[in-house]
Amino acid sequence: MNILLVGSGGREHALCWKLAQSPQVAKVFAAPGNPGIAEHATCVDLAVTDHAAVAVFCATNAIDLVVIGPEAPLVDGLADSLRGHGIAVFGPSAKAAQLEGSKGFTKALCDRADIPTARYVRASHIAEARAALAGFGLPVVIKADGLAAGKGVIIAETLEEAEDAIGHMFAGGFGEAGAEVVIEEFMRGEEVSFFAITDGSAIVALGSAQDHKRVGEGDTGPNTGGMGAYSPARVLTPALEAEVMARIIAPTVATLAAEGMAYSGVLFAGLMLTDQGPKLIEYNCRFGDPECQVLMMRLESDLAALLLATAEGRLAECATPRFSDDVALTVVMAATGYPGAPAKGGAIVLGDTGAAKVFHAGTALKGEALVANGGRVLNVTATGATVTAARNAAYAAVDAIDFPTGFCRRDIGWREVAREER
Ligand code: AMP
Ligand code: GLY
Repeated sequence: MNILLVGSGGREHALCWKLAQSPQVAKVFAAPGNPGIAEHATCVDLAVTDHAAVAVFCATNAIDLVVIGPEAPLVDGLADSLRGHGIAVFGPSAKAAQLEGSKGFTKALCDRADIPTARYVRASHIAEARAALAGFGLPVVIKADGLAAGKGVIIAETLEEAEDAIGHMFAGGFGEAGAEVVIEEFMRGEEVSFFAITDGSAIVALGSAQDHKRVGEGDTGPNTGGMGAYSPARVLTPALEAEVMARIIAPTVATLAAEGMAYSGVLFAGLMLTDQGPKLIEYNCRFGDPECQVLMMRLESDLAALLLATAEGRLAECATPRFSDDVALTVVMAATGYPGAPAKGGAIVLGDTGAAKVFHAGTALKGEALVANGGRVLNVTATGATVTAARNAAYAAVDAIDFPTGFCRRDIGWREVAREER
């Protein structure tokens, strides 16, 4: 089969690397791709906001499957447009992608399907939002309803901070995303990510991962897209995973299907393991970045067959994906300045990174030379029998990379490393 992969980050490099290993795959195109992706695919300059142009590209190049990596084209309805042309797509419709595109949509779904989540109030006016604060303790969580590049969540420690956050959102601080806000009870516990693939009826678990969102060691400093991850996250025990499937994932899939917006693609659930059991923090309608990188390192079976079966509504007939028992861990190397304005153009020499896999997240070629071209630049990914072993292998590879304008956290996996040392 021929595949068109949409996206240009480390997530898409990991997907592309795995898709290209499938004996069923003839050719992979990536729009726009990056220099790492270009090792496995033909990178094409295609405006993915122009749905008609993407459909023409698919027809011209005999594309059998389109895999959409990031959330923006999904929320924008690219999957719907291509399906309208009879093209198989891995990724949800715009309606189903509201799970990520609107926090209020997801909270209301949780009510209808009795899914455990934080207590909340939706507000579309500043006065309404401020009045709702009285119903919550501190800290309180204030969220812009729409897509805000991971920045639209504020955990307010004081009433003043909460009032300011609400004011900022309704003043357009997050653009259209803040036209409505969700105010939520603060949940305590350990966070974990869980991934499942569904075609709207069958559901297959892909397993767990734990991300490190803050830029600094010890989980300090501003939030980022993710500075590193590992999988599986053993804190999500098999019993808890079964509970998540039964109480969160299955009711989500069933309710959306019953309401005429069946979800097809990967469901990425952000969970809080509270003392009352796992609760949903949020959904994303795509693979996590960098969580995808560690899932792909552990996936032993054919990714292309799995994604095509999902896209064609045949997931129940597809063999259950097989994952290695090994742990995979990825360290994000970012450009100085990230998550603010990153230094662009810094030289990178990869060196001997051994068995580790270096996924490109934000790189470019300047002549023959590899340079940084984004905030998150490289995802250095390794496996091992334990998180400690995978971490040591990943940092050995990091140390073999010469990237003077880059930095990384040195403590990825710290929670689990501490548990392993006990
Ligand atoms: P989100 O964009 O919804 O994933 O939120 C970003 C981060 O804010 C999450 O990864 C959590 O760390 C935190 N967060 C969001 N909602 C809550 C909540 N209700 N209670 C505690 N932490 C939360
Ligand atoms: N790493 C978190 C995300 O992809 O949203």
